[in-house]
Amino acid sequence: MNILLLGSGGREHAMAWKMAQSPKVEHLYIAPGNAGTREVGENVPIKATDFAALKEFALAQKVDMVVVGPEDPLVQGIYEEFGKDAATSHIAIIGPTAKGAQLEGSKEFAKGFMQRHHIPTARYKSITADNLEEGFAFLESLEAPYVLKADGLCAGKGVLILPTLEEAKKELKEMLHGMFGQASATVVIEEFLSGIECSVFVLTDSEHYKVLPVAKDYKRVGEGDQGLNTGGMGSVTPVPFANEEFMEKVRTRIIEPTVKGLQEEEILYKGFIFLGLINVKGEPMVIEYNVRMGDPETESVMLRVKSDLVDLFEGVRDGNLDTKSLVIDPRTATCVMLVSGGYPGSYEKGYPMSGFEQAADSGSILFHAGTTVKEGNTVTNGGRVIAVCSYGNTKEEALSQSYKAADMIHFDKKYFRRDIGFDL
Ligand code: AMP
Ligand code: GLY
Repeated sequence: MNILLLGSGGREHAMAWKMAQSPKVEHLYIAPGNAGTREVGENVPIKATDFAALKEFALAQKVDMVVVGPEDPLVQGIYEEFGKDAATSHIAIIGPTAKGAQLEGSKEFAKGFMQRHHIPTARYKSITADNLEEGFAFLESLEAPYVLKADGLCAGKGVLILPTLEEAKKELKEMLHGMFGQASATVVIEEFLSGIECSVFVLTDSEHYKVLPVAKDYKRVGEGDQGLNTGGMGSVTPVPFANEEFMEKVRTRIIEPTVKGLQEEEILYKGFIFLGLINVKGEPMVIEYNVRMGDPETESVMLRVKSDLVDLFEGVRDGNLDTKSLVIDPRTATCVMLVSGGYPGSYEKGYPMSGFEQAADSGSILFHAGTTVKEGNTVTNGGRVIAVCSYGNTKEEALSQSYKAADMIHFDKKYFRRDIGFDL
C-alpha cells in the first residue's frame, strides 16, 4: 500500500517511523515532512492544506491512504475534498470529516456536544459582542481564576487564564473585538478546573474504538511548569494516576458517549480523538477535544504501540477496528524536546547540528521537529528542534537515558527542561 502522511513536526516523524515498520507499506510519502521523515520515507514539497496539489500527487503516485497529522487540513475539509471527487474518492482518509473536526475547530461546538451527550466538562457560557452583558454576569458568578477561550483555531494561543475579574472582563472585550481575528468573535467562558492533566488518544472507525497509551505533556517552557506556553517541552507515558479505575470512568463517561454522540449526530469520524482531560479529585473531566494526535505526546506514545499501526488504520478504513489487536509495550517511554534558545519568543534558525549517531547509539530514538537540510547538513529550523525519546522500566530510567542522549546532541543555544515528569 502507498501512504501519504501530512505534516512536518515531531508527531509526523514519530508516526512515519512507526508506519515505515509495517510490512504493508510499499511507499511512504510525507508532505511536507522534515529532515527526519526523509530517513523513513520520501518527503514531498506540498503544504498539508494545498488540497489540489495533494490530490494530483496522490493520483499520480497511486496513493491508497492519506494519514492527516495536523488539524488544519481536517477543519478545512480534506475528508470531503477527496471524497467528492470520483477520481480520489477511493483513497482512504485517516481523520474526521469537517463536521467531526469541529470538535477542535470550534470550542462552542465542542462544549455544546459535551452538554448534549452529558460528558463531564467545566460549566460554560458562549458569548459574542451581542450578549457581552451576559458574559460579564457569568464571570461575576464564577470564582477566580477565569478561563476565556477563543472559539476558533488560534494555533494553540486562544486560551487565556486571568487572575482577576477586572482583567477577565477587559480581555473578554478585547477578544470579542478581534484579538484573534474572526477566531475570537465568539468566546467561551469556562469555570476553572483544578487538577492534573493527561492526554488520552482514541482511534475510531466511527463505530468501534481503541485506546492508545495515556501520556502527559509539559507545555510551559520553564522547569516546575513556569513561564510561557510552548507547543510542548516533553512527554511521559504511562501516567500513573490514569489507572484502571480512572480509565474505566474515562471509557464509560467520556469515550463511549463521544463515539455514540458522533453517531447520533450522524457525524462520520474515522480517525484520532484526542481527549485533553483533567483529573479533578479522581473524576476525569474534558478540558478540550482535539481531532489529531498530540505533539509531543505522539513521540512517546508511538514507542509503546507494538501492533502494526497501518493494520489499525486499515481497520479504521474498513470499519472493522474491533477485529484488530492493539498491543501496548508495558515499559515507560519519555520524550525530551530540545528547543532553540529564546523559544517560544524569538529565536534564530539555521544552526548546524551534530551528535545524532552517538545519541542514537546510546539507546534513544530521535524524532525531528524543526530541522531541515542545508548544503548536506542538518540545521535547526524551528523553535522545537528535536525530540529525544527513550524506553525504561521506570520513568526515572527512561528519562535518564533521554537526558544522557540530549547532552550528546549539539547545536548553538540548545535548551531543554530537565524536570520532565516531575509531577507524576
Ligand atoms: P486548551 O487549548 O483548551 O487545551 O487550553 C489550554 C490549557 O489551558 C489547557 O491545557 C489547560 O491547562 C488550561 N485550561 C483550559 N481550560 C481550563 C479550565 N476550564 N480549567 C483549568 N484550566 C484550563
Ligand atoms: N500536546 C498538546 C497538543 O498537541 O495540543
